[in-house]
Amino acid sequence: MAIDVFAASRLNRRDCLGIAAAGVGLWFQPRSFDLFAADAAAPARHDLLVRTETPFNAEPRLAKLPEGFITPVENFFVRNHGNQPTIDPQAYRLTIDGAVDKSLSLSLAELTEKSTRVSVTATVTCAGNRRIEFAAEKPVPGVPWDAGAIGTAEWSGVRLSEVLKHAGIKAEAKHVWFEGQDQIMANGQTRTFGGSIPLATALDDETAARVILADRMNGKPLTAEHGFPLRTIVPGYIGARSVKWLSKITVSDRPSSNFYLAQTYRLVKENTPENVAAATPIYEFLTNSAICEAKPVAGTGKYVVKGYALAGGHRGNRISEINLTIDGGQKWQPAKIVSPVRDFGWVLWSAEIDVPAGTERIQVKATDSEGTSQPARSPWNAQGYQYNGWHSFMVKKSV
Ligand code: MTE
Repeated sequence: MAIDVFAASRLNRRDCLGIAAAGVGLWFQPRSFDLFAADAAAPARHDLLVRTETPFNAEPRLAKLPEGFITPVENFFVRNHGNQPTIDPQAYRLTIDGAVDKSLSLSLAELTEKSTRVSVTATVTCAGNRRIEFAAEKPVPGVPWDAGAIGTAEWSGVRLSEVLKHAGIKAEAKHVWFEGQDQIMANGQTRTFGGSIPLATALDDETAARVILADRMNGKPLTAEHGFPLRTIVPGYIGARSVKWLSKITVSDRPSSNFYLAQTYRLVKENTPENVAAATPIYEFLTNSAICEAKPVAGTGKYVVKGYALAGGHRGNRISEINLTIDGGQKWQPAKIVSPVRDFGWVLWSAEIDVPAGTERIQVKATDSEGTSQPARSPWNAQGYQYNGWHSFMVKKSV
């Protein structure tokens, strides 16, 4: 089934359930779970557009995103593969084991008291963000995300590198695995959610903290749906590497064997076991941008257009240009960055551009400081990851 890309940002909860019922091939198995147990701690999330109820997956209306460089918790997308565990912070322990000199089992107090508190402003984006634009070409499995599966927060906690140094990293160590406490039912099996990052990324904090074990988001304890009491934040990497409800860290000489690193979140043209085995895991996110709002300025023939742009996820890479076109890329008009510019963070941009009567769509393209620009269209992949073609806003539908 093809979804109207441009109408999708106006879908509401009922419409989304309709899409699921109409057969967008969700690749998880629906199951019942205690969705509301953690609601006391949860923000007013029902303003989010619910993409799937079970498990809970939801994104904000796009116009909410340019309201601030830091995304308020209530406007932050939620991506769950399974249940949302309710964790007693008093009983909580984090295990650190594998290729370390001594295994550790730390309470939250031990973890935060033994290490320096740091904060990192970082954008988290789902690898499936903008999947519906692949779905407009042909059916694709997965949560039907518009361009709102992205947000920027100030995360605080402790450096992963410092915790690993407490445990002592053995010479053979090359990767750091993470595992969450949620349980995911799929094809008759129960899985945990996990993944890994290269050790070099885990230790990358020479110029500023990078990977952290976060217990706070925007100055407050994590909410249940964003991973209370502890999650990883891996700036520059797809959201799947920022594991929520973290229970275990394992240091290893190889990448994690967890399903979500070993068998999915990989780019394959056709989803066969051979193709998946031959592909490498996705780590860094790609240079991307989206138009979140476009409003006519009465009597001028101009539009004020706003959105976000994100440079591909490695240290030092920044957005250098954002351009808009109304004629499919023949002529471009520049947008201005109107937010702070940080490594691993999105920028918000704004432009006032000429939009003559009869214009069908406005499109955006970002270029990063390494000279990489978004392609007009993303090459197809079977699970609909990393769509980063020029993003369109349909002018006619907006008035
Ligand atoms: N961690 C656990 N334990 N379980 C999950 O389902 N989803 C991942 C990641 N961490 C997930 C997880 C994915 S795919 C994304 S995009 C981010 O969490 C989303 O984080 P958020 O829900 O706080 O926005």
